[in-house]
Amino acid sequence: MKVTICIGSSCHLKGSRQIIEELQNLVKENNLTEKVELCGAFCMKNCTNGVSVTVDDKLFSVSPETAKSFFNSEILSKVN
Ligand code: FES
Repeated sequence: MKVTICIGSSCHLKGSRQIIEELQNLVKENNLTEKVELCGAFCMKNCTNGVSVTVDDKLFSVSPETAKSFFNSEILSKVN
């Protein structure tokens, strides 16, 4: 599973760095480092929403506050 977090300037201001750290920790805590690949990408042209994150090419808007529930519903429950 490939999870890409936007690190473009607009998303950076909305906390993409915090989201990356949080997701990295959650991936480690759940022993998913072999299964989940986290990457950064530049602007995904979706700046008006939250921080843009894609999971296998599906686009989501995430904020530092919702990073954990995003992880649970879109990553943890879908990874096999
Ligand atoms: S900076 Fe993230 S979508 Fe534009």
